[in-house]
Amino acid sequence: MWEYTDKVKEYFLEPKNVGSIDDANAVGEVGSLACGDALKLFLKIEDGVITDAKFQTFGCASAIASSSALTELLKGKTIDEAQKITNKDIADFLGGLPKEKMHCSVMGQEALEAAIKNYYGEKVEKVELEGELVCHCFGVTDELIRRAIRENDLKTVEDVTNFTKAGGGCGDCVPRIQELLDEVRGQAHTEAPAEKKPLTNIQRMQLVMQVIDEEIRPSLRKDKGDIELVDITGTVVQVALRGACTNCPASQLTLTDFVQKTLRELVDPDIVVKEVSA
Ligand code: FES
Repeated sequence: MWEYTDKVKEYFLEPKNVGSIDDANAVGEVGSLACGDALKLFLKIEDGVITDAKFQTFGCASAIASSSALTELLKGKTIDEAQKITNKDIADFLGGLPKEKMHCSVMGQEALEAAIKNYYGEKVEKVELEGELVCHCFGVTDELIRRAIRENDLKTVEDVTNFTKAGGGCGDCVPRIQELLDEVRGQAHTEAPAEKKPLTNIQRMQLVMQVIDEEIRPSLRKDKGDIELVDITGTVVQVALRGACTNCPASQLTLTDFVQKTLRELVDPDIVVKEVSA
């Protein structure tokens, strides 16, 4: 799976500032449970200084560690100083995040922006819905993608997916993400995407088995987990998680963010992974 720094592990296993602030005067909420990550940030601001910061989050280890790191970064800062905090600052505070998990630090930055807008009385329904909605699967707008490209020097659609999640679902938004990359980086995308021949059922099954054996299972085994391929019908792949994965609270994320994502990248973008209890 992913390599986490000691600081990420520390902030995940013993997160600081978990909870809410009853008399918070700045609250920012981003993400959604449907996307797998959600963060609510509570700030107490007195005389322009953030005197307390707490969070509630739903998400993976990186989301919890990033949220906790953000609250530590915020305490004692003026609003002006807080507004300068970027997702990169959050990741740097943690000694880095796996590139596939950088979107967790972006979520922290968005929650902070939403909280500051809330403090100034600006209406923030959903910060991620400002601008043109590019990725319907994860509710990501063009504004958010442009900023992620600029601030993190992103070069590929995969980079954008790692930082914002956009493009990590059905893939319909990938051409628009490429346009935004071209626009922000000021370069025309000249290469036509390679035409791929559709896989036959037999080819798809063989590739799925190969990728599970060579890519997915070895990663899961590093964390004492395992996976069993139960059945393949068209693009639907049925699997059963084994070992440490069986009772892991993050098993659903493992299935979507790792197993399904890997199979989509390496076999077929239409693959849907379903867990069965066989
Ligand atoms: S619309 Fe972006 S991944 Fe589905």
